[in-house]
Amino acid sequence: MIPPKPAPRPEKVSLWRYMRLFRQDILSAQPDKLYRAWMAEFRTPFFRSYLVNQPQLVKEVLNRRADDFPKSGRIGEGLRPLLGESVFLTNGPVWKRQRRIIDPAFEGGRLRDTYPAMWAAAQAAVRRIDTKVGPEPVEIESETSHAAADVIFRTLFSIPIEHEIASQVFTQFRDYQRTQPILNLAAFLPLPRWVPRFHRRRTRVSAKAIRSLITRLTSERMQQIEAGHAPDDLATKIMTTADPETGARFSTGEMVDQVAIFFLAGHETSASALAWTLYLVALFPEWQERLAKEASGLKNGDFSNVSSLKLSRDVFREALRLYPPVPMMVRQASCTETFRGRSIDPGAQIVLSPWHLHRHARLWDNPDGFDPTRWQAENGKQCQRDAYIPFSSGPRVCTGAGFAMVEGPLILSMLLKHFRFERVAGKDPVPVAHLTVRSKDGIWLRVSRR
Ligand code: HEM
Repeated sequence: MIPPKPAPRPEKVSLWRYMRLFRQDILSAQPDKLYRAWMAEFRTPFFRSYLVNQPQLVKEVLNRRADDFPKSGRIGEGLRPLLGESVFLTNGPVWKRQRRIIDPAFEGGRLRDTYPAMWAAAQAAVRRIDTKVGPEPVEIESETSHAAADVIFRTLFSIPIEHEIASQVFTQFRDYQRTQPILNLAAFLPLPRWVPRFHRRRTRVSAKAIRSLITRLTSERMQQIEAGHAPDDLATKIMTTADPETGARFSTGEMVDQVAIFFLAGHETSASALAWTLYLVALFPEWQERLAKEASGLKNGDFSNVSSLKLSRDVFREALRLYPPVPMMVRQASCTETFRGRSIDPGAQIVLSPWHLHRHARLWDNPDGFDPTRWQAENGKQCQRDAYIPFSSGPRVCTGAGFAMVEGPLILSMLLKHFRFERVAGKDPVPVAHLTVRSKDGIWLRVSRR
């Protein structure tokens, strides 16, 4: 049984048709040959893009010479109203300074401290889903979004999703997504840079509302820090960390930008990954039973659980391979380059595609199949590991990678300890890329108690 994969577009299409397909979904707008190619060039009237699929070239761009390939300015255009100058969008010295302040909060030791909050969020997810058990299918993406947003609020600000401001941010965020800022075509499509960028009014309005709620949380926290009674959570850690080079801390305004990206990057991605993982275990019930058995050993809020969830981690990894929440990343060449004998001009867009790399026919055994055993140490092939970048790689690697690899397997195990998830005939999901890889009409599963 092969898990769902979007149908590729025909080999040759006009630019106009490509733009229309792109508008619907980036994944099905691409031709099949990208699953075999090492590199592909897209010519548009105003700029060139190159999709790079060869592990050595990916390393060159993301790891070895990351400074020469800054984040493309085009990608931020759709997200700027919400994210301002957050670490996700900046480059150069500003970005380096932001990472120096943020990274310590996500180091190994801190993960242990955030674990009780993740555990509490996982328990809350079990209570919510318990009310939906029965013959009627449940839409799982909205459940995992709720759970992942809860994790972010509990770990960042020590408040549950039911908190008045947290629940408002969550609701406003759903509105923001509905305006689909990723489809702000200026960010991707061949418009020259001098064309003014318009964001839909609704996108601007909901971004403003989210930012004003986050500003309230952040200002309150700044006051608590100054008064010496702030909770010991990620927000306090980040807001009290001084840049080791300059000694400066984030101002409240700068922190608002960072909270916006933690919320966006931290909950959208984990929600997508968890929803696809639950679908995959419904598709492969023998794996679901093995995970449920492993999960029966989960002990109350104990961090040592993490190392015991081996199968859960392998399954979560395999889900991140087949459905990488961030399907593509875009960088920009700052010098003239020669890639695979082709000359690349400064300003060209370099697209790294976890989606294609993770299913590359020349790099993976059984590329479209679900096989969590490939992650077991004895089966692990280096060439496959080099082709696996769900969290990106190099200095710009996802800040929350370690966090997500604790959160995902934990929530997955907790849910499978209590429930059985079953596929609903005729309602298999169709992957599409929105802000992250989602299913076209949601992921519907039937849930029963164990
Ligand atoms: C399964 C879950 C997750 C996945 C698959 C994921 C994936 C990614 C990827 C691919 C990038 C790089 C994007 C690019 O360079 O264009 C990224 C960046 C980032 N992620 Fe994650 N992420 C996840 C969870 C999280 C969590 C839980 C947090 C925080 C709590 C987080 C915070 C960030 C931040 C701040 C960045 C920007 C880093 C920078 O540009 O320096 N992510 N993530």
